[in-house]
Amino acid sequence: MKYILAIESSCDDTSCAIIDSNFCVLSNVIASQEVHKSYGGVVPELASRAHQQNIIPVVDKALKDAKISKKELSAVAFTRGPGLMGSLLVGVSFAKSFARALNIPLIDVNHLEAHVLAHFIKDTPEQKVPQFPFLCLLVSGGNTQIILLESPRKMKVIGQTIDDAAGETIDKAAKILSLPYPGGPHIDRLAKEGKPVLAFSQSNIKDYDYSFSGLKTSILYTLRDKLKENPNYIEENLKDIACSVQKAVVDSLLKKFEKAIKDLKIKTIAVAGGVSANSELRARLQQLGDKYGCEVFIPKFSYTTDNAAMVAVAGLFKYMDNDFADLSLTAYAR
Ligand code: KG4
Repeated sequence: MKYILAIESSCDDTSCAIIDSNFCVLSNVIASQEVHKSYGGVVPELASRAHQQNIIPVVDKALKDAKISKKELSAVAFTRGPGLMGSLLVGVSFAKSFARALNIPLIDVNHLEAHVLAHFIKDTPEQKVPQFPFLCLLVSGGNTQIILLESPRKMKVIGQTIDDAAGETIDKAAKILSLPYPGGPHIDRLAKEGKPVLAFSQSNIKDYDYSFSGLKTSILYTLRDKLKENPNYIEENLKDIACSVQKAVVDSLLKKFEKAIKDLKIKTIAVAGGVSANSELRARLQQLGDKYGCEVFIPKFSYTTDNAAMVAVAGLFKYMDNDFADLSLTAYAR
């Protein structure tokens, strides 16, 4: 095995990465789509059209950046799902044709598993990676899960949201505050200069599961009541509101995660997904690790959002098990 080329196209980022047999990244090219900004969310049809336009230039650049020829590739990995069907189909069709043309194996990857395995992406051969078993908090725009990993291919979801995801909750709050989409980075930036003066009610459901719908409603109703008293409440208190929202989401996330660390006596913890870029979540996860004597793995910013390097790593683990896909498979949205 020499190199794996991977494709990611599940939502609104077209990405191609190349890694070697030591999990080291040779290139990781990401083309983001600006077209959705004015709509306040991803428009599926526009996303698939942009993937169509981006995919060949992105793959071409990834090969050039890695300074290798396509003849040196050993396999093609791709995100099969979950994601937007039209977006996934662009990547799946490209990966199938590319692997067929080069006569090399094809490897299908689950997008969520790839996010968790992002901790095994190496920028240098010496880079430390998590030891098993480890517990990963996967937090993105569409998912909130606590995953127990016994090995790279043995993952168990021990808790998850029964309604909204953490990122979705932050994005909805940001929308009420008239912040641009996606709201997460704006809430994070404003929260740095605010104080958590507002207390929102939070659901507490069983075991390691989450529910964010109550918190979302509480944010909406609290701000509605404040606006009745003072129509300029939001403009005058933007930083404090952002800080209160962020704290409420991080409190909810870590309460269940801490319970899981204690119950399972875990010594390695990690966070993954788009929301893991959040500075408060990163800082408080490290504090939690210090409290329980755990080794903490927090991904580089560029590996928190959608990228093909994580797909390549997940693909390499499957390659090592000779677990290949055939040309008849299709994408799955859920
Ligand atoms: O994993 P991801 O890139 O893709 C989706 O699941 O769509 O996650 C995107 C989510 C969005 O909700 C975005 O607002 C959130 O990650 N996000 C953040 C930050 N950066 C991105 N949330 C809080 N703080 C951040 N710094």
